[in-house]
Amino acid sequence: KSGAGTADRLLAWYDRNARLLPWRSPPGTPAPDPYRVWLSEVMLQQTTVAAVGPYFDKFTRTWPTVHDLAAADDAVVMAAWAGLGYYARARNLLACARAVAALGAFPDTEEGLRALPGLGAYTAAAVAAIAFDRHAVVVDANVERVVARLFAIDTPLPAARPAIRAATATITPQRRAGDFAQAMMDLGATICTVKTPRCLLCPLRQDCRAAAEGRAEGLPVKAAK
Ligand code: ADE
Repeated sequence: KSGAGTADRLLAWYDRNARLLPWRSPPGTPAPDPYRVWLSEVMLQQTTVAAVGPYFDKFTRTWPTVHDLAAADDAVVMAAWAGLGYYARARNLLACARAVAALGAFPDTEEGLRALPGLGAYTAAAVAAIAFDRHAVVVDANVERVVARLFAIDTPLPAARPAIRAATATITPQRRAGDFAQAMMDLGATICTVKTPRCLLCPLRQDCRAAAEGRAEGLPVKAAK
């Protein structure tokens, strides 16, 4: 099975089926502003795409750049965040914006991003790949599910995480890692869904061991609570 072929098939699908979301630029156009990518990724942690939309629009209209956000009053940002929940995220957001403003711009590597206050491993990888086209391995819950199925990884979550990360690395392309990551997310949201995955419509059906074995719906396995 060829990892390169998998990425090519997924990117070809994404070029025709990418969801147009407010923080994205369409496939094939220049990468979006790192501020918008970072802001969207922070908002999307624990909040759905549909719920984030209006908040993303409000924030980017009120504070069009990271410098504007860094200069904002804490209480005003907290009030704007109300409804998104997890206020620690809003506090981290401001601390991070101020650190970026002090640096002058967002660092353009995964490592540099990871050093910012409150910016975790997932967000560093996502921003490096999506905003800077870096070869970063981006694994969120959607990617975990897609990869557990592609490789028929039977180990329960969370113990399967290292194997899933390693498998994701083998199919992440050198170029367009950001589009690849977002394509995996879109595939997970629209086709490789938790319940009743639409395997007949999937661009990766020929790559998928779980589909071949007729057991996509049973993966990933979750450890008993
Ligand atoms: N969930 C988290 N980040 C996302 C993105 N960039 N696109 C779609 N869904 C996401």
